[in-house]
Amino acid sequence: MLRVGVCVSGGGTNLQAIIDRVQDGTIQNASIEVVISNNKNAYALERAKQNGIHAEVLSPRDFDNREAFHEAFMNLLDSYELDLVVLAGFLVILPPQLFEKYENRVINIHPSLIPSFCGTGYYGLKVHEGALARGVKLTGATVHFVNAETDGGPILLQKAVEIRHDDTPEILQRRVMEEAEWVLLPQAINLIAAGKVSVVDGKAIIH
Ligand code: GRF
Repeated sequence: MLRVGVCVSGGGTNLQAIIDRVQDGTIQNASIEVVISNNKNAYALERAKQNGIHAEVLSPRDFDNREAFHEAFMNLLDSYELDLVVLAGFLVILPPQLFEKYENRVINIHPSLIPSFCGTGYYGLKVHEGALARGVKLTGATVHFVNAETDGGPILLQKAVEIRHDDTPEILQRRVMEEAEWVLLPQAINLIAAGKVSVVDGKAIIH
């Protein structure tokens, strides 16, 4: 059984998609051991509680400096003995020690087709604003392993979503979630739980 921790900051619709797919058996051999939020008001925490999942709040604001927060965050992850950490809308600067200690065991969902509209500054609606401003006709979502480079780790799954001429950033954000994010993230967890993913020469391979 793959022990999964999910890190969130907001509404947690991606978390909900994972919970639903565990419950309906689409994701097999995985259990959500903990949901960690930096924001005590995140609705994602409510979703965890409603589903009997441990919920933890750990905010950088409660620590004197970033190093102290990072140490506490690592200790919290370690205490749940996780095989996989899923970043599902987690808007926090990650501890450098995470990349080494949990190498190829942390995945993130990003709401564009990486390498477009990603990297520093591209989060939330800004990603979709960027896609609309450039006038691309396809966008989508990407699940990737996390390394020290923002949105730069090995790409695991991608799914394209069409852009319509009258889209607003909000409408596009919703379509990317419905058509891509909520499908890809559970799929990625299921593939990892089934032992079907490896990283070779910096690239993720699905067997
Ligand atoms: C998603 O768009 C995700 O791609 C991004 O943050 C958003 C999280 O939404 N990184 P939710 O909290 O899962 O509803």
